[in-house]
Amino acid sequence: MVVTSTATVESTYDRKSELMAIDRSKAGIKGLVDAGLAKLPRVFVHDRLNLEIKSGPPPANVEIPVIDLGGVDNDSTRRAETTNQIKNACQKWGFFQVVNHGIPVTTLEEMINGIRRFHEQEPEAKEELYSRDESKKVTFNTKIDMSQALTAYWRDTLTCVMAPRPPAPEELPAACREIMLDYTNNVMKLGVTLFELLTEALGLKPNHLKEIGCAEGLYVMGHYYPACPEPELTMGTGIHTDSGFLTVLLQDQMGGLQVLHDNQWIDVIPIPGALIINLGDLLQLITNDKFISVYHRVLAKNVGPRISIASFFRTYIQPDNALRMYGPIKELLSEENPPLYKETNVVDYFKFKHIKGVEGTSALAHFKL
Ligand code: OGA
Ligand code: NI
Repeated sequence: MVVTSTATVESTYDRKSELMAIDRSKAGIKGLVDAGLAKLPRVFVHDRLNLEIKSGPPPANVEIPVIDLGGVDNDSTRRAETTNQIKNACQKWGFFQVVNHGIPVTTLEEMINGIRRFHEQEPEAKEELYSRDESKKVTFNTKIDMSQALTAYWRDTLTCVMAPRPPAPEELPAACREIMLDYTNNVMKLGVTLFELLTEALGLKPNHLKEIGCAEGLYVMGHYYPACPEPELTMGTGIHTDSGFLTVLLQDQMGGLQVLHDNQWIDVIPIPGALIINLGDLLQLITNDKFISVYHRVLAKNVGPRISIASFFRTYIQPDNALRMYGPIKELLSEENPPLYKETNVVDYFKFKHIKGVEGTSALAHFKL
């Protein structure tokens, strides 16, 4: 079938030049689609193993938890209930959705619209931001990796490093400048609330997670997944775990995000007005596996576009932060719960995060004792 015919082109396939041609166009996947592409370039075709995992039957009645944050700031009973729900979700799922989180629906809608406007504007306006230079605070690119044998994903992404030191407003693209600032202010506030609730759920002294810097660095990715002519051959986002502390994800109503739970891929059903929260590898590391970071992926579809915005609370490298150490939190350890991970500093963690590279392999294993 289609997969077999792919194998026959293998010998003539020059991965690097295919990738470079896509990069040189500076127009992203959307540029390919707009040019009328009918068959996927080889770099987007994922291997058979991943495609096979793709076809598991969806289990009935299993859904990631939906948690109501209403009242947590002024009602101690509600706060205790909510903390308990968060604790369960973080132990069993590593993923949950929140409603009544305090960010107005109009802000969420405008953020999705702003990211859409950015990706759908004239290619010339995006070109100047097209870059893989990770020292830049604002970049636009297609998720392909030049140095490693990773398969490319069917998506374009605008990345903005918004905290601790945001770019000057004029560095942000005009198509989404105001809403990017407004939305990320809101996400930073929500982050503080979430880290407080997580601190309580872990039974730590107030502000512990905030004090070790979990809520300081925010890295925002505005993804655009165009409709794909051969969705069964590729992935919107391949199987991965997030590497930071916590991710706040805003998705539109298209669907396609799946979470691995009990060896099954579970759809994360879009709920209007809700936000998805998931934990990253570094939170699993500092909680010594009390809370988990789980694999997830986004299927490619023949309809679209799908828009999502992932805001990652994570470490950042600045002179003042580079040597900060992260290891299992002492208060969570005991004779029965010995540390499972070694301590690492921010620079080393970043180095490893960047070389990990193998799809479906979490960076955590590297830090295991
Ligand atoms: C991510 C991610 C999911 C999505 O950016 O790490 O998992 O729905 N995104 O785009
Ligand atoms: Ni992710």
